[in-house]
Amino acid sequence: SRPEAGGDTNPEKLLTPVLSAFWDQPASWTLETYRRHEGYEGLRKALAMPPDEVIAYVKDSGLRGRGGAGFPTGMKWQFIPQGDGKPHYLVVNADESEPGTCKDIPLLFANPHSLIEGIVIACHAIRSNHAFIYLRGEVVPVLRRLQEAVREAYAAGFLGKNILGSGLDLDVIVHAGAGAYICGEETALLDSLEGRRGQPRLRPPFPAVAGLYACPTVVNNVESIASVPAIMNRGKDWFRSMGSEKSPGFTLYSLSGHVANPGQYEAPLGITLRQLLDMSGGIRRGHRLKFWTPGGSSTPMFTDEHLDVPLDYEGVGAAGSMLGTKALQCFDETTCVVRAVTRWTEFYAHESCGKCTPCREGTYWLVQLLRDIEAGKGQMGDIDKIDDIADNINGKSFCALGDGAASPIFSSLKYFREEYEQHITGKGCPFDPAKSTLWA
Ligand code: NAI
Ligand code: SF4
Repeated sequence: SRPEAGGDTNPEKLLTPVLSAFWDQPASWTLETYRRHEGYEGLRKALAMPPDEVIAYVKDSGLRGRGGAGFPTGMKWQFIPQGDGKPHYLVVNADESEPGTCKDIPLLFANPHSLIEGIVIACHAIRSNHAFIYLRGEVVPVLRRLQEAVREAYAAGFLGKNILGSGLDLDVIVHAGAGAYICGEETALLDSLEGRRGQPRLRPPFPAVAGLYACPTVVNNVESIASVPAIMNRGKDWFRSMGSEKSPGFTLYSLSGHVANPGQYEAPLGITLRQLLDMSGGIRRGHRLKFWTPGGSSTPMFTDEHLDVPLDYEGVGAAGSMLGTKALQCFDETTCVVRAVTRWTEFYAHESCGKCTPCREGTYWLVQLLRDIEAGKGQMGDIDKIDDIADNINGKSFCALGDGAASPIFSSLKYFREEYEQHITGKGCPFDPAKSTLWA
């Protein structure tokens, strides 16, 4: 049931507001508002089911992790060993920091109870009595709102002892990180939560086997967990009626950059950027799309040739990129690709945790070369050098940050190599930064 590429552009038909259904209402974040919109109904249904049935139900719904990798959520829950006598933990990854990625923070700000309800359902399923929300620490207003929502949930009996008379005891702790991108990598996040410097651990063992305090742990993204209550309440068939066969359901697309109306658009997986642009007002007036990312800067960039690629894991994967976080950053013809890639690479170099040599040294050298090229001080051999350095980072680093850093280099060279050459032969940037709103 994948929507036709370039077909229906009627927003009424394309948008599927579930998580964002009442963001525009006054005090949308309160328990009272949430309960007026089916809030905690999915939990009642889930608590009436044995834990294994809840896991099977979420597995059958086809929900895939919304943090970027798209790993099946129910399957991840199923990995948690049962009867092992150890505590089990749920850790929600709310450390959203990928450049361009901005869906979890607005979701938490506008509708925190969808996450809390999802947490209780997930903890019932995996037999956990402790959940942690690891939030990006810079977003203090969201931290306060989340803490308040947790307080409300305790007071109403949705958290704490014997939740809704089910016998489930659950405590939720909101933890603010200190603002390191690497702490969004699930094992670095666990180290940070345990009080250590956040650096990735070797996987396997995956957190499902040895996670927080070496106990079985599910680490899920905010949007993944927040999607569970609606699945439990409205049914897995309803969820599967949206999206594509292997990537079912609704999701949040974050449209940003040179677009007329940036923002969050909740729609089925498998729609296209062309459809999203058609219904949202398109690229800013008088300009045309030059390049875009399907899911943040770590996902290889696309061009206007890819407007009809279905935005699901299979469609984007087949076209040579990754769906990632569905952060659709759009850049028009006034943008210098070399400049954009330099900015992203500076980010990765700054955020590299330093644990492994290819990423720590490679991102540093990439920045030096890119800055030279961008400033018109590069030499022709520098293009092959950045390609070679990226090749020595990609697949040879300890965690996905290294691959993410290499990705914009490869894709920009694939589609815009002549733009790098122009900077070198012309001894300067051919673009006028004053014309691009992004770098002002
Ligand atoms: P991954 O594919 O290695 O793992 C995905 C999830 O599945 C993890 O929770 C992992 O523990 C679990 N898993 C995979 N194989 C397993 C197995 N055999 N047994 C048990 N569990 C297993 O992906 P990774 O490295 O965790 O995340 C990469 C993604 O993160 C990228 O796609 C990127 O888009 C996204 N990302 C998101 C950011 C954000 O701000 N939201 C920031 C940076 C990257
Ligand atoms: Fe750290 Fe980068 Fe190595 Fe990941 S790839 S462990 S961020 S140095």
